[in-house]
Amino acid sequence: MMFHTLVFCCLCCCHLVGVFSESVSVMEGDSVTLNIDDTQIREDDFILWTFGAKKYLLAEIIRDSGIFSTFNGPDERFRDRLKLDKQTLSLTITNITTQHAGDYRLQIQRVKLPSKTFSVSVYARLPVPNITRDCSSSSSSSSSSSSSSSSYCLFVCSVVNVSHVTLSWYKGNSLLSSISVSDLSISLSLPLEVEYQDKNSYSCVLNNPISNQTTHLNLTQLCHTCSEVHVSCCDTVEAVMRLVVTALMGVAAAAAAVLLLNDVRSTRG
Ligand SMILES: *[C@@H]1O[C@H](CO)[C@@H](O)[C@H](O)[C@H]1NC(C)=O
Ligand SMILES: *[C@@H]1O[C@H](CO)[C@@H](O)[C@H](O)[C@H]1NC(C)=O
Ligand SMILES: *[C@@H]1O[C@H](CO)[C@@H](O)[C@H](O)[C@H]1NC(C)=O
Ligand SMILES: *[C@@H]1O[C@H](CO)[C@@H](O)[C@H](O)[C@H]1NC(C)=O
Ligand SMILES: *[C@@H]1O[C@H](CO)[C@@H](O)[C@H](O)[C@H]1NC(C)=O
Repeated sequence: MMFHTLVFCCLCCCHLVGVFSESVSVMEGDSVTLNIDDTQIREDDFILWTFGAKKYLLAEIIRDSGIFSTFNGPDERFRDRLKLDKQTLSLTITNITTQHAGDYRLQIQRVKLPSKTFSVSVYARLPVPNITRDCSSSSSSSSSSSSSSSSYCLFVCSVVNVSHVTLSWYKGNSLLSSISVSDLSISLSLPLEVEYQDKNSYSCVLNNPISNQTTHLNLTQLCHTCSEVHVSCCDTVEAVMRLVVTALMGVAAAAAAVLLLNDVRSTRG
């Protein structure tokens, strides 16, 4: 028993002494299978799968009696979503939503072992970040300091209604700036200032702990979008290529946004 405890602590995370707990992250709409080590399970064991702090019954198993029952859980939220494997006794939740996030517990009535808990986190599918040229801010005024035609153009990368994400600007593979939000569902935007004639590749990446979405900045295209507003911006034939990253880390739509690098907590085991 001690041996098993040690093995679990290495593979997963032990939140409390003697409680087997494993973190699982899954994307909304996907399926997740909670696998168990069934070497300790006997044919005549009475086994339960439960959900949440209130331990709603999801499945009841007595193998030698041929009992393999699944239930719909609170508010019928598991209706048509549960699959029980009669061989391995693993439980699969299909087409998962945020309503199905929480603790899933396996209890074997005979064995005096503590139950095993799977802590399931469900992440929303990420939208594609939207890059727009901020035509309102006239950054061409910065040309006053250097020769006539130097100019910088401001881009804004934005996403709406997101939570548990980080939005970042990359120059090639280098991180330039980022902004993170945890619990709240809010809109995020992050500015980038680039000098025209800069030929580097820039991209805006939205990511959560399990996935990401990227939009590449097309300087040519976005330049044309604004060319009538700031003619000087696109007509410059500047030999010197310079990049200015705004010192501002970003503008959040809510004060609760957390302006930190790498703030997203990885909940993977
Ligand atoms: C998945 O669940 C969502 C929300 O409950 C539902 O609208 C959708 O039809 C389901 N998709 C499948 C393939 O069952
Ligand atoms: C991107 O933002 C612009 C300006 O707000 C909007 O017109 C456009 O529809 C957005 N595109 C996408 C794909 O969301
Ligand atoms: C963002 O969330 C608000 C409030 O929940 C909703 O009214 C709005 O339609 C959402 N916008 C998008 C683009 O999903
Ligand atoms: C985005 O996800 C892919 C795999 O899906 C990964 O290879 C890539 O490194 C990720 N990019 C970032 C910037 O996190
Ligand atoms: C950028 O936009 C221009 C103009 O719309 C287009 O011709 C070009 O193929 C685009 N480049 C990339 C890398 O998408």
